[in-house]
Amino acid sequence: MIIAIDGPAGAGKTTIAKLLAKRLGILYLDTGATYRVLTLKALKENIPLDDALALRDTAINLNVRWEEGKIYLDGEDVTDQIRSPNIDKSISLPVSFKEVREAMVEFQRRLVGTNDAVVEGRDTTTVVFPNADYKFYLDASLDERARRRHSEMINKNIRVELEEIKHHIAIRDRADLTRDVGPLKRAPDAILIDTTNLTIEEVIGIILSYIKR
Ligand code: DC
Repeated sequence: MIIAIDGPAGAGKTTIAKLLAKRLGILYLDTGATYRVLTLKALKENIPLDDALALRDTAINLNVRWEEGKIYLDGEDVTDQIRSPNIDKSISLPVSFKEVREAMVEFQRRLVGTNDAVVEGRDTTTVVFPNADYKFYLDASLDERARRRHSEMINKNIRVELEEIKHHIAIRDRADLTRDVGPLKRAPDAILIDTTNLTIEEVIGIILSYIKR
């Protein structure tokens, strides 16, 4: 069984998908994290972020391991590094290349293999697992999404202004919605959940009600 969860930054995908996978006792894959790791690797290796072919080769050879909720790149724990504002700022370009996305989609499907999984990230319901058993599209207002990202950062002791986060999310939304390859779009058969005024438990409840049917 594959449950795919799509939607824009800050709509609650990561929190919800992680909890849902835990409740159901199945694998959890955060596809955004795979793009974040790729961007971090490129920055570490000084690979130009506009060099699609070099990025694709890097994607093909990524050495990433997930272990107890932590992400390791080349053996190093990069769980916090991949969430830094620097990655947020740099990621739009690498994720925009067709070659890179093709390699990453392969990688993501390989990570899931034959397991039951909750797979989360924009394009998971349209490109990565278009035949997923259940598809959900989570959305929320820009203000609410920025507020959530902001409190995430504050909890991690990363000092950043709410307005700056809002600005970056708006830029990323635009880039994600308008790009030619893998744009953020709701699959016609994905169930839309507006999480703006819902608690995490309420969203989980709605999703489980569909799965138990
Ligand atoms: O969900 P996130 O914020 O961790 O995603 C990081 C970036 O990667 C974001 O700009 C969207 C992009 N992304 C993507 O293009 N395709 C995915 N399947 C997941 C994330």
